[in-house]
Amino acid sequence: MGKFYVTTPIYYVNDAPHIGHAYTSVVGDAVTRWHRLLGDDVFYLTGTDEHGLKQKQAADALGISPQELADRFSVRFREAADLLDIAYDDFIRTTEPRHYRAVQKFMQAIYDNGDIEKGTYEGLYCVACEAYYTEDELVEGCCPIHGRPVELVREENWFFKLSRYQDRLLEWYDQHPEAVRPQTRLNEVLGFIKGGLQDFSMSRSHFDWGVPLPWDEAQVAWVWFEALPNYITAVGYADDEERFDRWWPVDYHLVGKDILRFHAVYWPAMLMAAGLEPPTCVYAHGWLLVSGQKMSKTRANQIAPSELVDEFGVDPVRYHFLRDTTFGQDGDFSWEGIVARYNADLANNLGNLLSRVATVVARKCNGVGPAPQEGSPLQALAADVYDATASAWDRVAPHEALEATWRLVHETNAYLEANEPWKAEPGPDVDAVMGDALEALRIVSVLAVPAMPRTCQEIWRRIGMSGSVAEERLPDAARWGGYPGGLAVEKGPPLFPRKQAA
Ligand code: MSP
Repeated sequence: MGKFYVTTPIYYVNDAPHIGHAYTSVVGDAVTRWHRLLGDDVFYLTGTDEHGLKQKQAADALGISPQELADRFSVRFREAADLLDIAYDDFIRTTEPRHYRAVQKFMQAIYDNGDIEKGTYEGLYCVACEAYYTEDELVEGCCPIHGRPVELVREENWFFKLSRYQDRLLEWYDQHPEAVRPQTRLNEVLGFIKGGLQDFSMSRSHFDWGVPLPWDEAQVAWVWFEALPNYITAVGYADDEERFDRWWPVDYHLVGKDILRFHAVYWPAMLMAAGLEPPTCVYAHGWLLVSGQKMSKTRANQIAPSELVDEFGVDPVRYHFLRDTTFGQDGDFSWEGIVARYNADLANNLGNLLSRVATVVARKCNGVGPAPQEGSPLQALAADVYDATASAWDRVAPHEALEATWRLVHETNAYLEANEPWKAEPGPDVDAVMGDALEALRIVSVLAVPAMPRTCQEIWRRIGMSGSVAEERLPDAARWGGYPGGLAVEKGPPLFPRKQAA
């Protein structure tokens, strides 16, 4: 049994949760649920990023203190996570005392190693990114991410000597080519490093909403320098060495492509400077676009997760995020897209399979599910489906994993159509076919539980299995023959009533 530590970015509290945030959290949740099925010891971290100039300005605009802003919005992110059944093990807030302790210890370690020095900086600053840009990175004089004007900021503060880490970072990625994924993103990171790394200012003196530097209390840590260490705070960096050694390095930092540079250049260098190991893998995903554009407050095109959950239910929303976007690439969100996926895969395929099986078992088998056949025509397929599903989750490719699992759903429907047990007289032939179909449903409910925990538990229950499907263990639970037969099968309401196309 291994350990498996996964993180989402911590979300800024100046914005309300939207489905772009939810997307990352759902992917991380499904991947960690898969690892729980494998019996791994899992730690899944999410939380909120609460300091910095951007948060301060947002609070000022509302006429409240930054702490008040953080308290209000952090709750909303936690509620959004709960709404989507995100099984996080910890929800970190950067205003917590444990985070102050960890950040101060971390900064002190780097300072003591000589990689933080005093200097003056003047540069073009984007408040939305909380980052400096060079002239040639700007697009028509504006921030390349937010399209907003940058400000000329001049500060006397502390610098992290990133330039010293250029060779070590290149060496690290040379030895660990899997440490940034997908591959195209690694090339981007290497290009950036090879272009020359500049020291950056890691403290701010013109406002005080942050963690003070232990050696210069008049300055607070730059928000990114403080936010990134949330990943070590949560596993005990300042408080519990044994626990920290057990979990660190992280297995996956899941991040949007816009924050790759912070995670794959700055953060590994900061960790090296503090004498810690870089992340095992930073996995960058694309954006969930709405009409081709990134969701943002300024564009007023945000969709709240609750809007979709109200309409479709939690599991279909999760399924759609996981199935319809290739993790790593941009995905387009549209109402038509989610309805089409819902009707095709959930209403017509999985929901239909369960309802057919329960109906035929009620009519032809007295409501008692028969056992599957050894050597069933579905058996070899189920084994292939397991291998393909497992390999895809292992590569963090949820869309492929679900596509593979749905082959079993689809083929079981085809098997029923070929045999037409609803037309046959009750007897061993019908029992054999129905036992196979029930076994396929049992296996599907195990394989799909990371994506749709509630639905799979309901299928598990309706086919007469007891206990929690999430507590099953792979690979055993996916082996053909696990459905014992002799269980009462329940005919319930449709799992996924069909939706009208938009
Ligand atoms: N607070 C920083 C992260 C610090 S991690 C140490 C931050 N916060 S954020 O709230 O602006 O963004 C958090 C994540 O949400 C990022 O990975 C970002 O890419 C992601 N997304 C924001 N909008 C998104 C979409 N429209 N689609 C997919 N992900 C999006 O950056």
